[in-house]
Amino acid sequence: MEKVLVILLIYFAPAVFGSAESCAPGKSCVSYDLCNEGLLVDGHFYSDRSRTMQDEQHCHYMEKCCSVNETLAVGNGFNYSDALSALPQCGGRLDLWLHLRPMGYKKQESKFGEFPWLVAIYGADGYLCSGALITPLAVLTAAHCVHAQMARDLRLVAGEWDAAVELEPLAHQERNVSELLIHPNYTQSPAAHNLALLLLHSQAAFELAPHVQMICLPPMQLIYNYSQCYVAGWRHSELSANESLPRRWPLYILPRDQCGSKLRLAILGRRIALNETLLCTGGDKDPIVCGDMGAVPLMCPLPGSDDRYVLAGLLARAARCDGPQLLSIYSNVKYYRRWIDQKLRERDLDIRHYMV
Ligand SMILES: *[C@@H]1O[C@H](CO)[C@@H](O)[C@H](O)[C@H]1NC(C)=O
Ligand SMILES: *[C@@H]1O[C@H](CO)[C@@H](O)[C@H](O)[C@H]1NC(C)=O
Ligand SMILES: *[C@@H]1O[C@H](CO)[C@@H](O)[C@H](O)[C@H]1NC(C)=O
Ligand SMILES: *[C@@H]1O[C@H](CO)[C@@H](O)[C@H](O)[C@H]1NC(C)=O
Ligand SMILES: *[C@@H]1O[C@H](CO)[C@@H](O)[C@H](O)[C@H]1NC(C)=O
Ligand SMILES: *[C@@H]1O[C@H](CO)[C@@H](O)[C@H](O)[C@H]1NC(C)=O
Ligand SMILES: *[C@@H]1O[C@H](CO)[C@@H](O)[C@H](O)[C@H]1NC(C)=O
Repeated sequence: MEKVLVILLIYFAPAVFGSAESCAPGKSCVSYDLCNEGLLVDGHFYSDRSRTMQDEQHCHYMEKCCSVNETLAVGNGFNYSDALSALPQCGGRLDLWLHLRPMGYKKQESKFGEFPWLVAIYGADGYLCSGALITPLAVLTAAHCVHAQMARDLRLVAGEWDAAVELEPLAHQERNVSELLIHPNYTQSPAAHNLALLLLHSQAAFELAPHVQMICLPPMQLIYNYSQCYVAGWRHSELSANESLPRRWPLYILPRDQCGSKLRLAILGRRIALNETLLCTGGDKDPIVCGDMGAVPLMCPLPGSDDRYVLAGLLARAARCDGPQLLSIYSNVKYYRRWIDQKLRERDLDIRHYMV
């Protein structure tokens, strides 16, 4: 299945949006950074990201129809090292001016680098779910996503955006998993302790970059800003499409008392013990996020700081849309801090990366 997909990507995609294809006389489709048409401001080159008719008709949305004599051999990309060093150690992100958007962008797709801690998790048979990078050597996800897998079959991809192509301005990073740790008390039904840690080989850490960053873990006593959280991740059904972007959806965390009654309305017949190990969210209904999201991170703003995020939860139960609103249940990450810290410390891994 996966092989077929890979072959399609390699042999089919370039034939459609081939970098060498001529899009107009004397022009060809190249990545934006390889096209020397743009603006030089304060020594930084900003490629021209407006889209012409030629771009739309002949080039992939990550490419530009560029004069051959303006095409560069080496990317003219932005040097991010100063901006990167100004980022907090976790939960921060750059406002990537190059924020790429697909054609027909409807704000349901993440922009390039919008959630730089988002990791795509693949098993032997292809895409499984999404997780979150918490240290350069550790990814957190839901147990139900990986519990049937062998560590050696798992692959982690950070810095990924459009999973259907490899045309992003910064390349994704792929790593193997050295150890898979499922929470010892995990049960699928009832959904309890649905949490897993994926550890990398110590000599193969992810390299931090504008599109590869860590998210903070909430301290146990943290009170969230409940109002402006997001879930984001790829969808199974879209992974074989010509365009496969992570979806994003705004959600709010519901107070426990409201959550219990609303959930009973929406998920009839299911008894879910709602204690502090679970979070429940509400949001506007949308077919995009109902079902089919696998495990995805729930990210909330860090109170009192500007544009910094903590990993509040991991989707424990598929979102249901048969009630009056979108309701979903998450493992409450802050409740599991002790387990996560302990597992990393036992392996001499630095937990300061995700500390607020
Ligand atoms: C490239 O070609 C275009 C016309 O095709 C011309 O206007 C432009 O000056 C050329 N640029 C260089 C660097 O020669
Ligand atoms: C980026 O800028 C930093 C200093 O601001 C410099 O040390 C580094 O060499 C530059 N990197 C590239 C690839 O130009
Ligand atoms: C991952 O493991 C496979 C063997 O299972 C190996 O071929 C591959 O090179 C490894 N990849 C990385 C990035 O270490
Ligand atoms: C798992 O459950 C047992 C029994 O309730 C408890 O003693 C233990 O602390 C739990 N393990 C973790 C890691 O929470
Ligand atoms: C929570 O986030 C909303 C929207 O960003 C903001 O208006 C509000 O002031 C925040 N509340 C707290 C307590 O930080
Ligand atoms: C992918 O295919 C759909 C129809 O099959 C098309 O509308 C869309 O433009 C294609 N995407 C890209 C990036 O070309
Ligand atoms: C919360 O409920 C789960 C079952 O849904 C149970 O396993 C767990 O022990 C409960 N935790 C506490 C602290 O009551």
